[in-house]
Parts: sequence; structure tokens; C-alpha cells
Amino acid sequence: MSELPNLSRHPFAPEVLVDPWDFYAEVHATAPVFQVPGTPITYVASYDALVDALGRVEDFSNDFGAALAGSRAGDPEVKAILDEGWPAVDTLLTADPPVHTRFRKLVNLAFSMKRVEALEGKIRAIAVRLLEAMLDKAERGGEGGVPVDFVAEFAIPLPVSVIASEIGMETSTDIATVKRWSDAFADRLGQMIPRERELECAREVVEYQRHAKTLIDARRANPTDDLLNDLVHASVDGENPLTDAEIMSILQQLMVAGNETTTSTLAGGLLKLIENPGELAKVRADRSLIPNMVEEMLRLESPTSGLFRIVRRDTEVGGVPVKAGTMLMARFAAANRDPTRYPDPDRFDVTRANARSHLAFGRGIHMCVGNMLSRKELVVAFEEILDRVESFALAPGARPVVRPNMFLRGISELPVMLRRRERVAA
Ligand code: HEM
Repeated sequence: MSELPNLSRHPFAPEVLVDPWDFYAEVHATAPVFQVPGTPITYVASYDALVDALGRVEDFSNDFGAALAGSRAGDPEVKAILDEGWPAVDTLLTADPPVHTRFRKLVNLAFSMKRVEALEGKIRAIAVRLLEAMLDKAERGGEGGVPVDFVAEFAIPLPVSVIASEIGMETSTDIATVKRWSDAFADRLGQMIPRERELECAREVVEYQRHAKTLIDARRANPTDDLLNDLVHASVDGENPLTDAEIMSILQQLMVAGNETTTSTLAGGLLKLIENPGELAKVRADRSLIPNMVEEMLRLESPTSGLFRIVRRDTEVGGVPVKAGTMLMARFAAANRDPTRYPDPDRFDVTRANARSHLAFGRGIHMCVGNMLSRKELVVAFEEILDRVESFALAPGARPVVRPNMFLRGISELPVMLRRRERVAA
């Protein structure tokens, strides 16, 4: 095994999870694939090695549901609460073929390009409403304005509102509830919470499942025009339709995978524009750069920092031997800063030619099913921000807040000063 001889910090130390960029540079310079000392985990930061590993489904399994179930899944009190709901089923993220193949086919139907295109108007309307409300708040202080939290006012509610409306939960109370559930799933996943919070999260899971059951039953009785309806009624080549527990599992993944990640890209992306006025000026001058700018934001933010794979048989990754039964940490965020793939990898370059080749959405059979939806939300959001906001800056004395999480990384508070644009482009 290749252990990092001079690993200056532990890859999962909270301060590294919060601010990993120097650590990634150190890893790329020394050992882009290495065994994490004292663990059965091989850390894959090399772009090429990661692409190779993600394509070898027969060698590396996604059956890591148990590892994600929360560090206290065996706690009798947590288990007793969860037993009141529906069983956790491995569907997309934590399933291997042929099980994964069936779910993916069914879910692809609900996430078609056609549905995403049809959602553009709704996404834009939500983005404009949130932006205008945020700008109103920012201007309340009179001359100079007052700070507003871009995360709370815009980056959280945009993706949550889109997903909430696609499962028929459209009121503001509903949206807050969807966010609460989504946080509970993400907190369990992050494995960094105290026991009290773990118990609370388990209660939230059961509350979510009971509500999801009523939404599913309603669509079985009366079809609607939304994503949940498409999941409930999806059928391909005589495959059995999805069961309640399967739909609940998929919906839960949509909430976790879709909300926090898009929020993080919006917040991290805005910060990149604030920190790089030269790049901002380029996009203001040429709006056709917005889609590539979004890809560059995804590359640099990589909100899903990494996920596990379970090694099925003795093999190697990037020349490093790995043993059956151990784990890979597929570090998407590190691979996206691999200098052999992206010269000057930490630089935000809205014209970077290969920005779109990033691994922020993964690669291979598990590649993010929501990537088209998320890209649409991000492009629409930044189009509207550039149209409606004249200037943005960090609030005086403010610092972005990032909380440690093994798998998901993102800014949770971003206080900014905003000034409205005099005239909105048509
Ligand atoms: C910036 C936003 C997003 C990022 C960075 C992101 C990232 C990822 C990554 C890295 C994977 C691959 C996991 C693996 O290889 O094991 C993935 C899978 C997945 N994503 Fe996303 N995602 C985003 C948005 C969304 C959205 C909007 C949705 C849905 C509403 C979504 C739903 C899913 C699901 C269900 C999977 C599992 C797919 C499978 O295993 O076949 N994601 N995502």
C-alpha cells in the first residue's frame, strides 16, 4: 500500500473538510492515490485513476448503504424510531447492477430532458421572486443597503422550492418542511452529529416517510403533472412499478442529492464572482459564457466532495494495490483540481476549455441523475443574478461559514451587500 509518508493533516480532519484545497494540492504533489493511515480506505484524488475506478463496476461496488446509514444506526433507540417507518431500500446511489439498472431506467423517465426543459419557466419564476425579495431586503437600510445572507435568501430556497413543487409541496410551510427533512438526511449522512441530533433525525425520517406515503397514494388515485407522479407511474419494458419503500428511498435521495449540492454551487459560485472581478467582467460582457462559467463553478466547488466504493476483489487503482472488502474514497473534489488535467487548477477561469469534463456529477452508471436539472437551475439563477444585480460584495467583516461533512461540502452562510440594477434587460 502507498501510505502518505508525510501526511501533514488527516484527510477527514474537520479543518481539512472545511478548507481542503491546500491538502488536495499536497496530495497531488505527493501521492494522488494513497491509503488513509489507520483505516481500510484508499483515497483516490487522481483524475485518471478516479475515471478508471468509476468505470469498473465489477471491481468497485456502490453497496455502501450500511456505511451511510449513520454511525449510530445500531443504536437501539435510533433503530426503534426507524422501525416505526418503512425499511431503508438500496435503490440508486447504494445499489449495483442489475438492481441499479432497473431503478435508473425508471428514474431516467422522470428526469428526462423534456421535463427539465418544461421546468425552465417555473425555475425562472422562482429565481426572480427570490431575487427580488432579497434585493428588497438588501435595500431596506437606505443608502448603502444592509447585508443579506445569500444562502438563506436564495441558494437554499431555489432548489428546495423546485423539488418541493415537483412533489406537490408548494406552500412556504411545505418548503420549510422539505428543507428540514433534507437537512436531517444530510446530517445523518455527514456522520458528524451528536446523539441527540441523530435521534431527532431518525424522527424526521419517519415523519417524512409518513407524509411521502400520502403523496404517493394521492398520485396513484389521481395522476398529476409532476416528477413524483412520473416516479409513481414509471414503467419500462414490463419492469415492475416502484413500491412505496422504493419511491421513498428515491425521493429521499433526490432531496439530499439535489438540494444541498445545488445550494453549495450557487453560494460558492457567487463567492467566486465576488473574488474574481475580472472573470465577472468577462461574463457580463459576453452572456454566452454563463453555461461554461457554471461548469467551472461546479469543478471548483464539487459539493459532493467524495463518496465510497466497496472493493469487490483484490485489484489496483492508479498502481496502488487494494484489497477485497476495503473501501475507496472517490474524491471528486480533489480530482477536479488535478493539475495534470486542469492547469493552474485553483484558478477560476470562466473560459477554461475543458471545464465541462469535471467529475462534480461523478461518471459512469451512477453519474448524477439530476445533472440536467441542476445545470438548468444554476444557469437560470446566474442569468437572473447578472440581469438584476448591479454589484455584489461580501458584507464588511463577514466570512463565509462552512461546516465539516465527510461527503458534502458547502457554504452555509454568505452575508453579502447587493445593489439592484437600474434597468432589467429584456
Ligand atoms: C450541483 C448539484 C449536484 C451535484 C454536485 C451532484 C453530485 C452527484 C454525484 C457526484 C453523484 C454520483 C454518485 C456516485 O458516483 O456514487 C450523484 C448521483 C446522484 N444525484 Fe446528484 N448532484 C447534484 C444535483 C442533483 C439533483 C438536482 C438531483 C435530483 C433532484 C440529484 C440526484 C442524484 C441521484 C438520485 C444520484 C444517484 C444516481 C445513481 O446512483 O444512479 N443530484 N450526484
